[in-house]
Parts: sequence; structure tokens; C-alpha cells
Amino acid sequence: MKKFSQRHLLGIKEITTDDIELVFETADNFKTVINRPIKKVPSLRDITVANIFFENSTRTRISFELAQKRLSADVVNFSASSSSVTKGETLVDTVKNILAMKVDMVVMRHPAPGAHIFLSKHIDAQIINAGDGTHEHPTQALLDAFSIREKLGSVKGKKIAIVGDITHSRVALSNIFCLQKLGAEVMVCGPTTLIPKYISSLGVKVEHDLMKALNWCDVANMLRIQLERQDIKYFPSLREYSMLYGLDKKRLDSLDKEIVIMHPGPINRGVEITSDVADSKHSIILNQVENGVAVRMAVMYLLAGQN
Ligand code: NCD
Repeated sequence: MKKFSQRHLLGIKEITTDDIELVFETADNFKTVINRPIKKVPSLRDITVANIFFENSTRTRISFELAQKRLSADVVNFSASSSSVTKGETLVDTVKNILAMKVDMVVMRHPAPGAHIFLSKHIDAQIINAGDGTHEHPTQALLDAFSIREKLGSVKGKKIAIVGDITHSRVALSNIFCLQKLGAEVMVCGPTTLIPKYISSLGVKVEHDLMKALNWCDVANMLRIQLERQDIKYFPSLREYSMLYGLDKKRLDSLDKEIVIMHPGPINRGVEITSDVADSKHSIILNQVENGVAVRMAVMYLLAGQN
């Protein structure tokens, strides 16, 4: 049986193309499972997973929890706002206390880039990164690439434009690593202030004109402006941003081909994407959400299989 090469899922940077393919093959099977009348399998029956969220989340937290329950794991949930973190406890102490209650796997979202790498050096449990600040969000990239593969047959050779706040988006970085490992061409598009200067050293194309990016790509992944992470003003107003970088029906209809529209959520309707585009036949946004459960089941199943 093929095995995942890493003990943890800290980022896409750390895993191999074979790992990604293995996640996809496993997720194909789990997707069949979750569409059956009985959606549950006993694969993680003796495993206890803690979902530790130091940042807000809707989709990712629910998706992980559903995936754990479909795999019959025991689940405990922790959110920082209602915990002893507000009383001054450190990250390592918080997690060590949770692990003292015999937890095997930790799914964590944390505002500090690299928090998971730090934690993996201090605790024994397996760690899955559910988003570390502006750094990586590996399961999002896996479910995004899985959704492209499902829609277009493969990822290899496809042209993917990632549009929006590249500087503050962990989805962007994980997507770049994942899509490149799978042989796609990647372009980032947005205002100069929201594209890091070093980004072309990762081998991505850079474009500041949305229409040029849309004409180039097979898939456009529209990202949210991460206002909560922006310490200064990066553009004059959201209205101006949406005039220049928002995807609306008029722009989509002016292309001489059909492209696939993606968004990791949460959507800001009328800013990066209009409602008629988000809800159109071009959009696979809800397929991404559905696939998220199967992909997360695959990741946890493969990690648990290493013990
Ligand atoms: C993303 C995140 O949290 O990084 N959302 C998600 O996990 N589905 C993207 C975002 O917040 O814009």
C-alpha cells in the first residue's frame, strides 16, 4: 500500500506530488462513501482528534469535523476566544494540556505563520494545518486542485489565475505550490500593492490587468481581500477594487471561451465576485465545499495510517 511521506500536514511545500496524487485517489473513494445513504466508515474509530481554532472559521472547521465524524473518530473542539488563551496561556501549554487527555491528532488554525512547524517540534501528536496566518492552508489547496481535476479531467497543463489579495492570502501560497507540483501553469493577478515583490521567483506569471488574466486562464480562483490582516491601506476603496478586479457577468461574457470560476469562501458578493457569477454555471464554489469533506477525510485517513 502507498503511504503518505510526512507524519504531519504542515504545508503543501513539505509534501510530494505522489502524496498529492495519493490524497486524490483516496478522496475519490471517500467521495463515493459520503454520497451513500450510510455515510460513515470505521477507519478512525480509535483515534481522537482535537480541532483547535485560534482564528474564526465556518467552512474549514465544519468540514474537518464532518470528515472526522464520517470516519468515526472521537472529536473535541476548542476555540481560542472561549478558552484559557485569553488568560495568558502559551500555545505549547494549551496544546500539551489537550494532549494530556490522550488526543492523537490536532487540526489547528492559528494566526502566526509557522505556528504548526513550531508545534510539531514540541508535541507528539500528528498535526494538520488548517491555516497559519498568511502562510499556508494546505487542505484548501488540495480540495481546490481536486475540484479542478474533477471538472477538467486533470490539473496538468491547465492555466490557473489566482486573483486578488495575494500578499495576505494563505490560500494563494498553498495553491501555487500544489498546482505547480501537479504541472499546472499559475498566474497571480491583482494590484501591485497586493502582490509580493518576490512572487515571480516561485515561477508564477504576474499580471495586473484582470481581462488579460481572464483571457489567458482556464480557471480563475477569486480570492477575498483579507481586510482583517491589512495593517495599512493597500488600495483607495473597495469600490475601486471591484471596478478593476471584481469579476462580473459582463467581463465573463466578453471572453471568447468558457472558464471555470472558483472561490475558497467566504465570498464578499459585489467586491471580488458578483452574485450572478458566483451562482452561475461557470462556478464550482459549492463543489469545492463538498469536495473539502472527502479531501480532509483522505488526509486524516492517510496520516492515521502511518501509526
Ligand atoms: C480561507 C481562509 O481562511 O484562508 N477560507 C477558507 O478556509 N475557506 C480564505 C479566506 O478567508 O478568504
